[in-house]
Amino acid sequence: MSSGSSTSLKLEHVSHHFGSNFVLDDISLDIAPGEVVALVGPSGCGKSTLLNIFGGLLQPTKGHVLMHGEPRSDCLNPLTYVFQDFALLPWRTVAGNISLGLEGKMRDEDARRERIGEMLRLTGLADFANAYPKQLSGGMRQRVGIARALAVRPACLFMDEPLSALDAQTRTLLLEEFAMLIARAAITTVYVTHNLNEALRLAHRIVVLSRRPGRIKAIVGIDLPIEARREGDPDLVVAEKRLWSMIRDEASAADRELDDAR
Ligand SMILES: Nc1ncnc2c1ncn2[C@@H]1O[C@H](COP(=O)(O)OP(=O)(O)O)[C@@H](O)[C@H]1O
Ligand SMILES: [Mg+2]
Repeated sequence: MSSGSSTSLKLEHVSHHFGSNFVLDDISLDIAPGEVVALVGPSGCGKSTLLNIFGGLLQPTKGHVLMHGEPRSDCLNPLTYVFQDFALLPWRTVAGNISLGLEGKMRDEDARRERIGEMLRLTGLADFANAYPKQLSGGMRQRVGIARALAVRPACLFMDEPLSALDAQTRTLLLEEFAMLIARAAITTVYVTHNLNEALRLAHRIVVLSRRPGRIKAIVGIDLPIEARREGDPDLVVAEKRLWSMIRDEASAADRELDDAR
């Protein structure tokens, strides 16, 4: 796949309230073109909310989201999501689901078929083009989710716990595949997860959010190229230790607050 997103993202002093629920507190963050940023933090700290603000699905109570750089000329949908629950249309085949974002935008039927074929091959789905989602395992369904997302050549990719609904073995397999796909495509990506291992495997930088209201507690950069990362790499082990202690502090503080409220 030809590649490279030239779009950068910027959050400027973003805060958000849902009614009286103070969810995000003064988040500023720059994401470079082609950079993969993972957002980690305890459950309920506002990760999905922040992702929705990034993608323009939600207007923050305060602050701004800025996008810079023209999407490539073949981009059919600049801001594209991959969700935890796959969000496939059950009455469409695998090929039909991948075709979704192309229809009405890619008029040439041959070109569309070619794009769908490319995505099927890229995600290991070539033999499943005519299968329906209910005939597929969870792992295969999420392969369709990423195939559909990459098919439109997005400028920015937003992934909300895309592997969290899968069993451990499938998650490990798919993590490897997603890491390579995202790295090769060089798309500006925000990847939400509560799983540190995922963040360490596929992100250039890991943003740790505090418990709610989510604030940026730390940003940990990992210099090792994504394609070269292996389990047990010393750089990853060091980063993991640092991250773990921060997240543990936040999670146990959040638990204590829950206990106090009981
Ligand atoms: N659409 C919504 N309306 C009202 N409250 C919401 C909505 N979405 C999320 N929340 C609340 O905002 C907080 C953060 O949620 P969320 O962003 O989903 O956290 P995370 O993804 O980190 O688990 C939670 O308290 C949640 O109940
Ligand atoms: Mg969430």
